[in-house]
Amino acid sequence: MDRLSLLYLLLLTSLLSSAVATVDSLDEDPLIREVVDDAEDHLLNAEHHFTLFKSKYGKTYASQEEHDFRFRIFKANLRRAKRHQLLDPSAVHGVTKFSDLTPSEFRRQFLGLKKLHLPSDAQKAPILPTNNLPTDFDWRDHGAVTAVKDQGSCGSCWSFSTTGALEGAHYLETGELVSLSEQQLVDCDHECDPEEYGACDSGCNGGLMTSAFEYTLKVGGLEREEDYPYTGTDRGPCKFDKSKIVASVSNFSVVSLDEDQIAANLVKNGPLAVGINAVFMQTYIGGVSCPYICSRHLDHGVLLVGYGSAGYAPIRFKEKPYWIIKNSWGEKWGENGYYKICRGRNICGVDSMVSTVAAMRTTAD
Ligand SMILES: *[C@@H]1O[C@H](CO)[C@@H](O)[C@H](O)[C@H]1NC(C)=O
Repeated sequence: MDRLSLLYLLLLTSLLSSAVATVDSLDEDPLIREVVDDAEDHLLNAEHHFTLFKSKYGKTYASQEEHDFRFRIFKANLRRAKRHQLLDPSAVHGVTKFSDLTPSEFRRQFLGLKKLHLPSDAQKAPILPTNNLPTDFDWRDHGAVTAVKDQGSCGSCWSFSTTGALEGAHYLETGELVSLSEQQLVDCDHECDPEEYGACDSGCNGGLMTSAFEYTLKVGGLEREEDYPYTGTDRGPCKFDKSKIVASVSNFSVVSLDEDQIAANLVKNGPLAVGINAVFMQTYIGGVSCPYICSRHLDHGVLLVGYGSAGYAPIRFKEKPYWIIKNSWGEKWGENGYYKICRGRNICGVDSMVSTVAAMRTTAD
């Protein structure tokens, strides 16, 4: 057996045997690094890419040291994008606005989903019929989704997932699409997970959508985005004004792991709040993300708005069904702010933490 096929065999064995490993630990795998290092020689001129990156995202660094430090991270992220490309060939990975951040800076500043410990008495969504589900469905085509927002450098993803789901439910209930306030949740919601000591919604330091629904139910509702605008920091006092409530929660529940049930709840109740592992999202440019291996450790809260099967490029990848995910990193990230991830095997844990909310008509309308 020549060296190359041996290497290939070893790589395959290591890929299969580490199916439970996280991608971050895979990054450290010497075999993968070896394969990637080859490609690294062809990594076009990192300096040139860094110049483009700085101008595209308006990046300036305070000192030469900082600049050089960020350039080193940028090069590491180019290699990381290359690895992600190998592991996730149906998506495109490359330079994003996060390319000068280390993985831990990225997690701390742009994610923010706390560990979910579902209370045993969490209301479970009733099982819905799944026989007449449309093959493709997108709530954006039905006017239930507001424009893509940007959480900035604050671990408040959970609040955007929460408002997104309630915006959809409110639209279904009232026919009116109203953008809702994340800042109210960031400043005022310190609701705790009843089962887990210390797991409380805490502004830029993370939270959970189910606790945020609970908070919203308790205080009566959320204000409009304009009335309580987003600042991206959690140092301010709570300025919630009950008289400005525009959308209220009637009830919410947790959807089972079954993908048909998830689709049925999506179509019936509107966009769903979901948790996901965001490791491939740091380098995602577009396409359908379908990594061979992805951790199911949930660290990011997003909004499931639809699903589809067509338009799965390139040709050599068979058409596969995917979920359409609204993210909260602005419109310049991903596909105009959206992410596509394949359906079928709970990739990156996308099916593991799904919740649905119903809105109530409010008098303040
Ligand atoms: C709200 O409660 C009703 C009645 O129990 C139930 O049919 C519906 O599925 C619930 N909706 C959500 C989103 O949990």
